[in-house]
Amino acid sequence: MNNQSPAIKTDNLTRKFGDLTAVDHLNLSVERGIIFGFLGPNGAGKSTTINMLTALLPATSGSAGVGGFDIQKEPLEVKRRIGVAPEGLSLYQRLTASEQIELVGRLHGLTHAEIERRIPPLLDMLELEDAVDKMIIDYSHGMRKKTALACALIHAPEILFLDEPFEGIDPISTRAIKKLLRDMRTGRGTTIFFSTHVMELAERFCDQVGIINKGQLIGTGSIPELRRRVNLSEDASLEDVFLQMVGTQGEEAELDWLTAESVQMPQKDV
Ligand SMILES: Nc1ncnc2c1ncn2[C@@H]1O[C@H](COP(=O)(O)OP(=O)(O)OP(=O)(O)O)[C@@H](O)[C@H]1O
Ligand SMILES: [Mg+2]
Repeated sequence: MNNQSPAIKTDNLTRKFGDLTAVDHLNLSVERGIIFGFLGPNGAGKSTTINMLTALLPATSGSAGVGGFDIQKEPLEVKRRIGVAPEGLSLYQRLTASEQIELVGRLHGLTHAEIERRIPPLLDMLELEDAVDKMIIDYSHGMRKKTALACALIHAPEILFLDEPFEGIDPISTRAIKKLLRDMRTGRGTTIFFSTHVMELAERFCDQVGIINKGQLIGTGSIPELRRRVNLSEDASLEDVFLQMVGTQGEEAELDWLTAESVQMPQKDV
């Protein structure tokens, strides 16, 4: 175990699906103990990257180290050190939240007593106590996401991978989760790698961000660094930086039937 290594380091990490290159020679380095926001348009390759880094999906070529361990050669060492809430959630529908969290805790080698100690405050923080005896199949979308997050947290991982963790989560829980993640970073030096589309959140919450577009990393660093790179002034928002780097598409689309003042109604066939 090499504590001097970055939390995450990729070397030309690539994933193809048939002819499509979803992640294209990604070279990314994330230092330990920071909150890193991974941004990019829909289909840019964020989830594919997270799935490779968490050993859920094999890479087509290239390599990556997580916590100092090779994701392809030492996937079990990687899995031991990480917590992950993937896009697909992968929950057992017929378990309750407690059972699902317990299962993940046991897989990580925690004792039953320790899991029993950790679950109530975790459910309390996530406001899931009322759902504790319900099966996951009967949960709302937000409740499932919170359950997946609890599973990612039960074993106090060194590095946390969260794919759009705040999507579908109400403002009360969002605030509680953000506070916890900050405390984990500050208290234990946990590295938090998460994807999001919410620029305002990323702007206030992340120490560093990376922007991916069409599978390629087009910028990484602190927000002031990225601002300087695209020659934007200090008051430019992360959204401005993002749009400048990625480029706007779709704004010019001809949608006159939706936007024109007088709309011709469809004629009935005669
Ligand atoms: N299992 C798969 N089979 C085929 N193509 C896939 C598969 N998974 C992802 N892709 C493709 O890879 C590209 C990247 O997808 P990915 O899910 O990584 O994007 P994303 O950045 O997470 O997008 P979003 O913001 O919408 O979640 C897309 O073009 C997607 O269609
Ligand atoms: Mg995704």
